[in-house]
Amino acid sequence: MEITREIHMQQKTARRLILFPLPLQGHITPMLQLASILYTKGFSITIIHTQFNPPNPSNYPHFTFHSIPDDLLESEANTSDVIRLLTLMNVNCITPFRDCLAKLLADVSKDPVACLITDAMWHFTQSVAEILKIPRIVLRTSSVCSFLAFFALPHLLEKNLSIQEEPVQELPPLKVKDLPMITTRNSEDLYQLLSLAVKETRASSGFIWNSFEDLEPLALTTCTQKLTIPTFPIGPFHKYFPASSSSLLTQDQSSISWLNTQAPKSVIYVSFGSIAALNEAQFLEIAWGLANSNQPFLWVVRPGLVRGSEWLEPLPNGFLENLNGRGHIVKWAPQEKVLAHHATGGFWTHNGWNSTLESICEGVPMICQPFFGDQMVNARYVSHVWKVGVHLENKIERMEIARAIRRLMVETDGKEKEMRERIEHLKEKVDDCLSQGGSSYQSLENLTSYLLSF
Ligand code: UDX
Repeated sequence: MEITREIHMQQKTARRLILFPLPLQGHITPMLQLASILYTKGFSITIIHTQFNPPNPSNYPHFTFHSIPDDLLESEANTSDVIRLLTLMNVNCITPFRDCLAKLLADVSKDPVACLITDAMWHFTQSVAEILKIPRIVLRTSSVCSFLAFFALPHLLEKNLSIQEEPVQELPPLKVKDLPMITTRNSEDLYQLLSLAVKETRASSGFIWNSFEDLEPLALTTCTQKLTIPTFPIGPFHKYFPASSSSLLTQDQSSISWLNTQAPKSVIYVSFGSIAALNEAQFLEIAWGLANSNQPFLWVVRPGLVRGSEWLEPLPNGFLENLNGRGHIVKWAPQEKVLAHHATGGFWTHNGWNSTLESICEGVPMICQPFFGDQMVNARYVSHVWKVGVHLENKIERMEIARAIRRLMVETDGKEKEMRERIEHLKEKVDDCLSQGGSSYQSLENLTSYLLSF
């Protein structure tokens, strides 16, 4: 990726930023995008990363990388239980991170360090920053609306919220089932992790959002009032540059050559991100739902998506062949390019925040299939606030899937037409917020000045 630096800023700033991404795809990508954005503003960039899921330094020749041990056993170094993984890493990394940071701060041969920027889920880094007397800024890689739900959890837990379909009075239009603690098996650990992340964010020197004013105006105002630390909504990050190269898996370019053979806006793109997993029965319902929809589909089946299977073994023999080219399955796709392709007309997504933003930025309406955590909140906002998606709320079932796909892709009158118009309008707002004088543009200017003030 060629990045043009603002030379005058480079001379003026000559300050170093130390960034520490959480080693999960949906978190590494926005942190490295943020690093690239701040590099163009004249800062030197140092990345501290774990041995688990390391980024590829050769994609970022302008940055300096330092690896720290994470002490994960082989059986722990995977995302099958992501809450346990994050809980463990927040303990294991304390000493190696502190030692590495102390060494970097003591190195007088490099540009002086302005501050540390870490993922919100690295909650232990706040006390390390305090001990080493360096300001810490937090990057939250998900939506502001989901943060507000996490923020309200301690209060909500005191109430006995057990009826899944009931609205949450404090957080309209969320339902009880959209709250992360209700649906997760190790809810105690999750609650602990989220409340520490919120507590240590409040103690930090500032908050960066991969979101923009026109998308979440109320949530941003509420959040600024509640946190009382400077907040900088400078997103969507990925629109600052052409598609970047922080993918941990190889992106299968046959996705694009296959899309080139399809009619405009005819294809439903299906992907549930980097962590979500299905059982075999759900996987087969999805396969038959796609087959029965009669629409062309591009489906990302990540190895590990189906619990207990390597890849496509559960599919009936000849499944794809019998569809006569109407379906294409890959292990991992160049998602930003897929969403920007003229043949893509809809996105069946788990509503991870990166996927949600990428879809909005390309004006692609969604079918929402959230699995856990912030995805539930994002999905509710997509379907009920921005009204740019169809929410699949029930058990994964082939007839319902086929109906939802046809509704999104084929029924072009009434509600669906309005949905397409609304997402086109949001897409225009993205261009506005990033152009000179726009809200994200201005926030980035403010962030740059703030970082230089340390
Ligand atoms: C996780 C959580 O699940 C999510 O809720 C949270 O907001 C961020 O961390 P993940 O499952 O990785 O996210 O989803 P998402 O946030 O959507 O990020 C996935 C990224 O992988 C996107 O940037 C997407 O473009 C990329 N991707 C996905 C590919 O490059 N190829 C693919 O085939 C699928």
